Amino acid sequence: MSTAPGYFVSFEGGDGAGKSTHVRLLGKWLGEVTGREVVLTREPGGTELGAQLRQAVLHGEDLDPKTEALLYAADRAHHVATVVRPALARGAVVLTDRYLDSSVAYQAGGRELAEGEVEDLSLWATDGLLPDVTVLLDLDPDEAAGRLSGSPDRLERAGAEFHRRTREAFLRRAAADPARWLVVDSTASLGDVQGQIRVDVAARLGLTPEVPA
Ligand SMILES: Nc1ncnc2c1ncn2[C@@H]1O[C@H](COP(=O)(O)OP(=O)(O)OP(=O)(O)O)[C@@H](O)[C@H]1O
Ligand SMILES: [Mg+2]
Repeated sequence: MSTAPGYFVSFEGGDGAGKSTHVRLLGKWLGEVTGREVVLTREPGGTELGAQLRQAVLHGEDLDPKTEALLYAADRAHHVATVVRPALARGAVVLTDRYLDSSVAYQAGGRELAEGEVEDLSLWATDGLLPDVTVLLDLDPDEAAGRLSGSPDRLERAGAEFHRRTREAFLRRAAADPARWLVVDSTASLGDVQGQIRVDVAARLGLTPEVPA
């Protein structure tokens, strides 16, 4: 848990699972019900340096797995130090589209680096900052791919087996730490999925219990 006065929520899941959509919808709603400042951000790329790192890691040349892991960790360190921690210290609600668990799922689950090493690298990079709540949008990668348009990036091109391992890694991590994770079935309609996220996130953060779905 973060110990700051704000709330820190991360969204995880495969490409096309609905992260960006639900970050936006939940952020708007949390701003209304809490009256707090809401910061919507993402990894990689939540800072100016991060945008350059995002370009390198998603649209640049082929990278070996360790280089890829280090670039994500560098993006995360800078993002946490300059965006996330200052916002939490101000009491803001910070919603991030991907965080540390994506590194573990993609670089360990997908690329098959050692899971403990990838996690420790991110914990070192962030001085141990973990979200208060992590929402996993769980969706079969084939179904998720059908929702995406545009040309695929380096990770999206990594293949069906890679994405199956990534999904399994997310689900394993969620099962191992149910106090932090909320697993949401993203096959339901957008409205139903958002409704469930609102109720469950509000409960986890200790917001008013009678919040409408
Ligand atoms: N429950 C849903 N039912 C149908 N379509 C959905 C649902 N949730 C999201 N979508 C649609 O799926 C597409 C992908 O969603 P979104 O961009 O939010 O996913 P993402 O997880 O952010 O993907 P990426 O990892 O590629 O950034 C969007 O067009 C969105 O409107
Ligand atoms: Mg997105």
